Amino acid sequence: MATAAALRQAGLLEVAAGGAVVLLAWFDGAPWAAQGLCPHQFARLCDGRIDGGRLHCPRHQASFDLRTGAPDDRWQISGLRLYPVRLRDGAVEIDLSALPMRSG
Ligand code: FES
Repeated sequence: MATAAALRQAGLLEVAAGGAVVLLAWFDGAPWAAQGLCPHQFARLCDGRIDGGRLHCPRHQASFDLRTGAPDDRWQISGLRLYPVRLRDGAVEIDLSALPMRSG
């Protein structure tokens, strides 16, 4: 997975967890996790940026509220799926039970 120190330094990290692409960020003094691909056209959100409490997609610049996952008002797309995450012994842990099921 990722350590808190690595996440703080990187700002945004993409990890694979439970068969899903997950985006990790360090936000407001704590780890944060969401789906790693944009709900618009699946850009990798790890190449985006965080500004003003929002995550900005690198491809078409939709932005998502980090607290709710909701897109900005210009977009009629799904919000980001957020995942429960916590720190344990310096490691970032994602609640795998909240991840989408893998088919097959
Ligand atoms: S792919 Fe993210 S806004 Fe289009």
